[in-house]
Amino acid sequence: MSEMKIPKHVAIILDGNGRWAKRRGLPRKLGHKAGCEALEQIVEDAARLGIKVLSIYAFSTENWKRTQDEVSALMQLFRYYIPRLRKRCFEGDIKVETIGDMSLFDEDLIRGIDDLKRDTKDFKRMTFVLGLNYGSRDEIRRAAVKLAEKVKAGELEPEAITEEMISQSLDTAVLEYPDPDLLIRTSGEQRLSNFMLWQNAYAEMYFPELLWPDFKKADLVKAVEVYNSRDRRYGGRNEADNG
Ligand code: IPE
Ligand code: IPE
Ligand code: MG
Repeated sequence: MSEMKIPKHVAIILDGNGRWAKRRGLPRKLGHKAGCEALEQIVEDAARLGIKVLSIYAFSTENWKRTQDEVSALMQLFRYYIPRLRKRCFEGDIKVETIGDMSLFDEDLIRGIDDLKRDTKDFKRMTFVLGLNYGSRDEIRRAAVKLAEKVKAGELEPEAITEEMISQSLDTAVLEYPDPDLLIRTSGEQRLSNFMLWQNAYAEMYFPELLWPDFKKADLVKAVEVYNSRDRRYGGRNEADNG
């Protein structure tokens, strides 16, 4: 355990809340509630493990397609979760950031989350990033608009646009480690569903079969162990290959 390399940025697509509830004959919203409880614990576990950035896909730009009942249950849950998260962050020296376009959320929710971000901005142990109305294509589109505005204003030549400038125009630019080292998606699904398409270019991916509400610290440790067994080459040569 002590020699384990801890990934700096771990991203999680928490999936399977609905199926967790269905298996128990419960309404989907109770699956989301159980998912929130699992998340609260994992935030603390991740900070204890020494992870520096933990990002969570909480609500996607496509999730508005769900029933109104489910969407409003999720919004209610976010409301309920903010004060609990505040407590965790103050106890655990954890800073909150968000990615995504929150402007579509209700004003009180936006205010609650903005206050939480402001009040935790000096905390250092870990940054907890919530993807809220986040979609990677929307994020890239917004970045393109920012850069196009600069070109239009005569501040930038189109040919001068670098990969770094694109990274700097994404929502994740505020993070100390913007690109995930390890991406976990629970519930056995093996797809990105529009999560950090640019940032996950070289992430190691891990897809446990567990449904999100069942994901515990031991599963996070297992994910880190799997990460340690991977050989990250970034398109270069295998280190073990001396030939
Ligand atoms: C993930 O669980 C939580 C959100 C997308 C908000 P799901 O609600 O997608 O659960 P399944 O995939 O239906 O089981
Ligand atoms: C991805 O899960 C979005 C979040 C976890 C917030 P979904 O359950 O919405 O994705 P699909 O529909 O299975 O691709
Ligand atoms: Mg799902």
